[in-house]
Amino acid sequence: MSKVNVIAIDGPAGSGKSTVAKEVAGRLGFLYIDTGAMYRALTLKAIKEAVDFNNEQALSRLAAEVDIQLKMHRGSLQVMLDGKEVGKAIRKQALTEKVRFVAAIAGVRKEMLKLQRRLAGASKSGAVLEGRDIGTVVFPGAEYKFYLDAYPEERAKRRYKELKQMGQKISLKALARDIKIRDRDDMTRDVAPLAKARDAIYIDTTELTVNDVVEQIIKKCSI
Ligand code: CDP
Repeated sequence: MSKVNVIAIDGPAGSGKSTVAKEVAGRLGFLYIDTGAMYRALTLKAIKEAVDFNNEQALSRLAAEVDIQLKMHRGSLQVMLDGKEVGKAIRKQALTEKVRFVAAIAGVRKEMLKLQRRLAGASKSGAVLEGRDIGTVVFPGAEYKFYLDAYPEERAKRRYKELKQMGQKISLKALARDIKIRDRDDMTRDVAPLAKARDAIYIDTTELTVNDVVEQIIKKCSI
């Protein structure tokens, strides 16, 4: 495995992973890798190509071929699928509801893992990766591991605010339901379920600001 400095941040939807991971990466001059965005982009590709969601082989093949790139542009993450920016399309609620089916396939995860390790390994200084299985599967040997969590009501509220800002219409109740189902499925799947690595530091972000969490993480990382 690569010798690059890796900070692994895992946790459920709305725990603040993305915002925190991006900020930590920015402050340390590290590469920011949003692995959820990669699963989302792959799901978008599957929808575009009308691949049957029950066809594990076809989805795994798609994962092996897909062209996904992550770029930072003026402090925002740009997600490129086949050379086109898809940042907004992959956050649509209809797509969010499908990602977990694609992400539960072993062949898909194998390809995504390769890509994630390759991306992190190519970074000069280090990388902050966020997702569900970074500390447990993708970089089990990472020196710095964190598991962010928050009360489900707070997580739903945060996501509601984000989606509203993006102009998406969805009720808080529907979002809370989606998050509950996703948590359950992500935590109970056979391959790489969402879990706190034994050696990860648990941070309950319910009452904390983004800056509080970022400071806590940076303080723990003696980089
Ligand atoms: O931003 P949010 O927490 O809602 O989700 P995300 O990080 O974009 O991930 C979307 C979905 O992708 C999750 O619900 C998981 O099913 C899947 N995922 C995964 O299985 N493994 C990862 N490392 C990242 C995401």
